[in-house]
Amino acid sequence: EKGLRVADGGFLNTAVIRSQITFIDGEAGSEYNRGYPIEQLALHSTHLETAYLLIYGALPTVPQFEIFSKEVMHHGVTHADAELFFRSFRYDAHPMAILTSAFAYLGSYCSEANPSLQGQNIFTKGDEASLARMDKQIYRLIGKATTLAAMAYRVRQGREFVTPPTNLSYTGSFLYQMDHMSEENYVPNPILEKALDVLFLLHADHELNASATTVLQTGSSLVDPYSAIAAGCASLYGPLHGGANEAVIRMLITIGKPENVPAFIEAVKKREKVLSGFGHRVYKTSDPRSFIVRKTADEVFNITGKDELLETAMALHEAAMKDKYFIERRLAPNVDFCGLIYRAMGFPLDFFPVLFAVPRVVGWLAHWRQASIIEQLYGNKSLIVTFFQMMLQEGGVKIWRPRQIYIGAGKREYVPIGGRV
Ligand code: SDX
Repeated sequence: EKGLRVADGGFLNTAVIRSQITFIDGEAGSEYNRGYPIEQLALHSTHLETAYLLIYGALPTVPQFEIFSKEVMHHGVTHADAELFFRSFRYDAHPMAILTSAFAYLGSYCSEANPSLQGQNIFTKGDEASLARMDKQIYRLIGKATTLAAMAYRVRQGREFVTPPTNLSYTGSFLYQMDHMSEENYVPNPILEKALDVLFLLHADHELNASATTVLQTGSSLVDPYSAIAAGCASLYGPLHGGANEAVIRMLITIGKPENVPAFIEAVKKREKVLSGFGHRVYKTSDPRSFIVRKTADEVFNITGKDELLETAMALHEAAMKDKYFIERRLAPNVDFCGLIYRAMGFPLDFFPVLFAVPRVVGWLAHWRQASIIEQLYGNKSLIVTFFQMMLQEGGVKIWRPRQIYIGAGKREYVPIGGRV
């Protein structure tokens, strides 16, 4: 098979997408967001500042960050005109299903996403109006992600929606909307806000994982970004991807006490069970985020107290890391043990994938924006070629779509039902 034709005219036997956003080195166990090691960003930056970096390619100056954070927070505090929409869900609806629908709902009434503009999600450098429209979509989606998530949380408890004060941080505003019972007694907790901000930053982007690829593939039809983000959210929902942080806790609850770990490990080795929170498509030594999760966990547990599943988690980690089966398969803990922190912070178990989706909206938008700005294709063809831009590629690749190797039945004639045995 010739494989995929790309901008520079060469042929590749796999769909290799070029990007400037995140680089993860599976062998070294390292991650860089626009060249900055994830460890440095986790230590010195914030989720919103890293969001700016991922989306626009450089750490913001003070004026740039003021505009960006003000716009995002503006969209974050005015909750969506969605009272009836949210109240239509059953009491037991999974919050990821609600959030996925809510992103598409948001697009159903946001001006930039109306049908007359569909197909115009290509932006041209220098065309300030089109770039401003893109920025507005980005601000709204990052800001609204916290609000929609909080509304998904409250609607299941039959609680009223609240509008947070405008002087809180991104995670502070989120926590206010999530847990606060009434205006007068909300007491911000800077340590928990910071811990959640670090976890959001860790989850912001991770190269072309399943959900980011879904956003790009969906966006390549030139649909509005709200619908593309809804598709990414649906992909992240799965237990092999973003749903793994919920699956890890369910696994630890099933295992119960540390003394049950050896039997569980044996069941995994017999392929009767999957060890959630372990393994990664790219990392074959360690997931750099897992070390930062461990450090953040200690800070949170100092406030909330240790989670009773922690001992089982540590016993599982120790047993797996020493076992030949896992060593041979180069399986190490990934980012998804952060569920223990979410549990200690009081979030409900099925809400954990939502805590992955909210920050990952940033990475999805970074890839979507990178694919949308047409000049990055014509301006420097060898730099960035994505599904999106292949559709616009001059001379050659038309609408890129995955191909297959057919292994089904050969050509055969139709037999009416009476003649079948
Ligand atoms: C995320 O792509 C990303 O970047 C994703 C993510 C992000 O930020 O976007 O990092 C977030 O999704 C992290 C992964 C969360 N998922 C889980 O924790 C679920 C458990 N993990 C596995 O299902 C699995 O590790 C995958 C799906 C993540 C990766 O599976 P692969 O690609 O098959 O892994 P592999 O090729 O390294 O597997 C090698 C071997 C295989 O066995 P053999 O057929 O060679 O005998 O290891 C086995 C696999 O079956 N294996 C596991 C295992 N993961 C791989 N066996 C038991 N338990 C596991 N967790």
